[in-house]
Amino acid sequence: MSERTIALVTGANKGIGYEIAAGLGALGWRVGVGARDDQRRKAAVERLRAAGVDAFGVPLDVTDDASATAAAQLIEDQAGRLDVLVNNAAITGGMPQEPTRIDPATIRTVVETNVIGVIRVTNAMMPLLRRSPSPRIVNMSSSVGSLTRQSGTAGELTTGPVAAAYAPSKTFLNAVTLQYARELSGTNILINAACPGYVATDLNGFRGVRTPEQGAAIAIKLATLPDDGPTGQFFEDGGVVPW
Ligand SMILES: NC(=O)c1ccc[n+]([C@@H]2O[C@H](COP(=O)([O-])OP(=O)(O)OC[C@H]3O[C@@H](n4cnc5c(N)ncnc54)[C@H](OP(=O)(O)O)[C@@H]3O)[C@@H](O)[C@H]2O)c1
Repeated sequence: MSERTIALVTGANKGIGYEIAAGLGALGWRVGVGARDDQRRKAAVERLRAAGVDAFGVPLDVTDDASATAAAQLIEDQAGRLDVLVNNAAITGGMPQEPTRIDPATIRTVVETNVIGVIRVTNAMMPLLRRSPSPRIVNMSSSVGSLTRQSGTAGELTTGPVAAAYAPSKTFLNAVTLQYARELSGTNILINAACPGYVATDLNGFRGVRTPEQGAAIAIKLATLPDDGPTGQFFEDGGVVPW
């Protein structure tokens, strides 16, 4: 079994996920680059390796049970355990998403990726995470899933556009993160949700104002928490995000 810290980042072929992989790799960790497309995954692994990262490709479509099972088997074969899982892959489902007009199929697709995909991958990796001395799980959420911010209560600013699939999928993900934290309390597994801020990526047509590297920072911080670090919480660079 490897002495080095082993991480898996889902949706790591581009955007924030790529920069999370690069940042964890810069710590000297072995990083599994989870990506569903063969060409995009190979290109990302090559780019990371050229930058000195000990990266390996992990074919992974988070909507596919067999793919998640095969990814766990690959990591078992490559490393024998998993120390850190960053559930980063997500989709918006396309905009606009007015609740009065949205096709229910869009909501199903978004929840399948952004919520059920996280549960599917986390549970496939759980036996490998349980072998780690300090397992960490980071779920990439968004402040658009904060009901407090969306409703403008508690003096918080409204956040994000009206989005009947994407925003509630992140609220759902936050709720699921808490359920895991409750079940896993008393174990050494810490699980938290992260918001990267408004980052220029494909997800928003590159309209974001932060760089993917800046967006990756909060995930890297939560991936490297000490054993007495928080669990079941929701963070951005500035601190705790209200539910
Ligand atoms: N950008 C922002 O401003 C922002 C703000 C708040 C939260 N976030 C969150 O940050 C995370 C990363 O977003 P991003 O902005 O970096 O988006 P992005 O550039 O669109 O990257 C999304 C990644 O997820 C992958 N993905 C999508 N569906 C997948 C599936 N079924 N299986 C495996 N991989 C899949 C994509 O792969 P393909 O290349 O194959 O499509 C891509 O690698 C997401 O969770 C997002 O919700 C982003």
